[in-house]
Amino acid sequence: MTEIKIFDTTLRDGEQSPGVNLNKEEKLEIAKQLERLGVDVIEAGFPASSEGDFQAVKLIADTIKNSTVTALARTKKNDIDRAYEALKNTANPRIHIFLATSPIHREYKLKMDKETVVKTSVDMVSYAKTMFNEVEWSAEDASRTELDFLAEIIESVIDAGATIINLPDTVGYSTPEEYGQMFKYVKENVPNIDQAILSTHCHNDLGLAVSNSIAGIENGAEQIEVSINGIGERAGNASLEELAVLLHIRNDVYGYQTNLVLNEIKRTSDVVSKLTGMAVQANKAVIGRNAYAHEAGIHQDGMLKNSETYEIISPALVGVSSEESNTLFLGKHSGRHAFKDKVKSFGIELTTDELSTAFNNFKELTDHKKEVTDDDIYAILMEIKTDA
Ligand code: KIV
Ligand code: ZN
Repeated sequence: MTEIKIFDTTLRDGEQSPGVNLNKEEKLEIAKQLERLGVDVIEAGFPASSEGDFQAVKLIADTIKNSTVTALARTKKNDIDRAYEALKNTANPRIHIFLATSPIHREYKLKMDKETVVKTSVDMVSYAKTMFNEVEWSAEDASRTELDFLAEIIESVIDAGATIINLPDTVGYSTPEEYGQMFKYVKENVPNIDQAILSTHCHNDLGLAVSNSIAGIENGAEQIEVSINGIGERAGNASLEELAVLLHIRNDVYGYQTNLVLNEIKRTSDVVSKLTGMAVQANKAVIGRNAYAHEAGIHQDGMLKNSETYEIISPALVGVSSEESNTLFLGKHSGRHAFKDKVKSFGIELTTDELSTAFNNFKELTDHKKEVTDDDIYAILMEIKTDA
């Protein structure tokens, strides 16, 4: 079975989320949890961006043993030197160098012609190769780059020593078909492509980051760049938890394996949410508060008979406890069956008449209150018991 490497960029692209600023102790806490989760590569930060980030990358590099630790660098000697200083004591170091390749970035941002973009990349990959065995090179805005130019520059940077080639959909503009085609083209048109592994890096501006990552691996990528809770620039990056669970649950379709410890997913999501201050939306796939909650009476009835009627992921798979999973959410769409189950969970015995009264009172309350909590239900039951 093909193994897909998980490259987590929560601490670099994820930290680029507006309003997020982690200190080095917080970054280390997240890195340790990512190591427990079993990610293959931790992108710890961008050492040349600030002294604080340099120190954070160094602390992570000095501590983490089981994951490769990498850091971002522009195609500048100083960035590469800073990354080397930060990473030199880690067990498995990797440098991640990037330069934009698309016409719009070349003309307006870099003011470089194609030849200069190739030469700069080759020179800096060769320079980095004197310090690192693993050199990842990213073609920023790859998905809006001319395919023949992309093939040309990839061949050159591999010759210069790049071992991982990352092709980002930097602005989240690609469709899965286009993104997959880019990988297919590179596989078929870069003569030395077998000397490197290909990587996806998808942004979620059009909500396609997960689908695009899948299209990438279906066309030859063996590494996916992801972040916890999908955080990152603008609408964020492909979410680790969604891809991990998709590859696991639909292994019958895709047939890939990863080294992830799936039941560490919820804990990792909670740590990242707490330390970044970014709440996870309630209906977020896999880890949202409502991801395992069923409100409709028909669904609840099905769940009570066989959970597979409406649940394709077992909460325990990703480390969501039964208390957290909020499986049968009681609201205005819920039926008597689920209500009876809730009463039982409180250890309270009701006669048939009492149960009918309690259920009617509960239904009335759902018309007035947005969320009926366990405390509300308990209060209804106590009122009936006291009145009796
Ligand atoms: O989105 C992007 O292109 C990036 C690169 C720096 C890899 O984050
Ligand atoms: Zn990015």
